[in-house]
Amino acid sequence: MPGAAGLFVTFEGGEGAGKSTQIRHLAESLRARGHDVLLTREPGGSKGAEAVRHVLLSGAAEAFGTRMEAILFAAARNDHVEELIRPAISAGMIVLCDRFIDSSRVYQGVTGNLEPEFIETLQRVAINGIVPDCTLILDLPARTGLERARRRGAAGDVAPDRFEKEEMETHEKRREAFLDIASREPERCHVIDATQPEEQIAALVREHVDRLLEPKVTNSLAEVSDE
Ligand code: TYD
Repeated sequence: MPGAAGLFVTFEGGEGAGKSTQIRHLAESLRARGHDVLLTREPGGSKGAEAVRHVLLSGAAEAFGTRMEAILFAAARNDHVEELIRPAISAGMIVLCDRFIDSSRVYQGVTGNLEPEFIETLQRVAINGIVPDCTLILDLPARTGLERARRRGAAGDVAPDRFEKEEMETHEKRREAFLDIASREPERCHVIDATQPEEQIAALVREHVDRLLEPKVTNSLAEVSDE
């Protein structure tokens, strides 16, 4: 029965990978089949987290160092989890989130040069038991992604954010770091080649999520119902 069990799906990847487009496609397809869907993003998604989003993406926190930024991302994440994600999963919704813990592992941990233990400890506190059932990593060469992101920026006359501005080498490192997470957590993470046509990517995304909807045994639901 649609909507009977909550599910938590996160989308990850570098700049210009098409996450937001694909999330919208997936939400549409799930809703058309009667599922209750919550679409959200990080940093942000809840009132407290949106306030922190502005501080992070404007670059206002950059001068205070990557450790401070990582803590702010974690603070925003915890607010988002407790105010929005956990209640939605408990209510049986399918939660689709644009970026989550893996972005912190990659952006702050790997390319921010923070110790993995520090990042993992922060994440544990931030998510407080809410682990994604499925993480879809949209993968494409950094150069392709950046060109797309810049075209999008020029079209909408939007200045690149604090993290988009960085060097090509940094973006390539991030790509490798996402692939590394995927190879270490193959149960949760699925890599999708984001150079494929939009419709083909959407079909693959749907396939992964439909597979989870069949047996409807989910990590996040187990976490919630344990309480
Ligand atoms: P956003 O405008 O949401 O763009 P995108 O389409 O790239 O997701 O910007 C979010 C930026 O914040 C993005 O450059 C990645 C960065 N980020 C981190 O560095 N750490 C995090 O934990 C998260 C969630 C995002």
